[in-house]
Amino acid sequence: MLDDVISEVSRVADIVTGLRALARNQEADATLVEMNSIIEEVTAALRPELARLSIRLELSLCSDGLVVLGSRVQIQQVLVNLLRNSIEAIRDEPVAAPAISLTLQPSGTSVVCTIADNGPGVAPSIKGMLFEPLATSKSDGMGMGLAISRSIASSHGGALDLLPTPTGAKFRLTIPRHIAVAGDRQPGQVSSEGALMASPRPLAK
Ligand SMILES: Nc1ncnc2c1ncn2[C@@H]1O[C@H](COP(=O)(O)OP(=O)(O)O)[C@@H](O)[C@H]1O
Ligand SMILES: [Mg+2]
Repeated sequence: MLDDVISEVSRVADIVTGLRALARNQEADATLVEMNSIIEEVTAALRPELARLSIRLELSLCSDGLVVLGSRVQIQQVLVNLLRNSIEAIRDEPVAAPAISLTLQPSGTSVVCTIADNGPGVAPSIKGMLFEPLATSKSDGMGMGLAISRSIASSHGGALDLLPTPTGAKFRLTIPRHIAVAGDRQPGQVSSEGALMASPRPLAK
């Protein structure tokens, strides 16, 4: 009971954080963000929940630091939303050997992160409106997670999609990759003028 209250409060707090971050000027807190480190932070925070439900987390990260230009908080928010949806899907319809797999890899001029689970999959009745605000199949759901996540992805010049899979559910987050050149600052640093860094440069061929 208390657990439920705590998880509800933290869920709503996450949503509010996401909405606030969205409402702020998107450029105000843009930095170079290393995707590997964000994923490590987010998954570390969710470990207790994963352990409680015996969900195995398979991480397949790219050792070559993949960097994007954007809001660390917002990108974290997207990953938390997707992972929490997978956790909730498995929690609500338990499966044998529950697992979530998260991959990170470069693809052309983008960074691609996929999150897949072996839960029940997206209900056909909700598939068509999955990314619309208030679309939820949960009695206690707000239906805002995927709507917020997709708008964060597009405000970063990227995309968030559901991929077809024979079982379970699989989402793909794509964000343009920032290609470092000599003289670039390290991830996490803003420019000395406090202004934004240049937009992501296209990949050299
Ligand atoms: N990994 C998943 N497996 C099955 N269904 C999912 C998954 N992720 C999202 N969904 C479906 O999409 C709906 C909308 O998700 P979301 O926008 O995060 O809102 P909420 O989680 O509050 O319901 C969920 O209610 C659920 O029906
Ligand atoms: Mg959700």
